[in-house]
Amino acid sequence: MQIAAALGGMAVSNGQSGMIHALAHTVGSKYGIPHGITIAILLPHCR
Ligand SMILES: [Fe+2]
Repeated sequence: MQIAAALGGMAVSNGQSGMIHALAHTVGSKYGIPHGITIAILLPHCR
């Protein structure tokens, strides 16, 4: 599990996905939408 978490962190860091995850946390918590769904909605608008 630690290896998987480390690999996931490296993928997120190298994928330049900081902006979309920050937006997804804010929008998802405000409207009660799961994080992955929020990312899927925002992804086409953040690339
Ligand atoms: Fe995230």
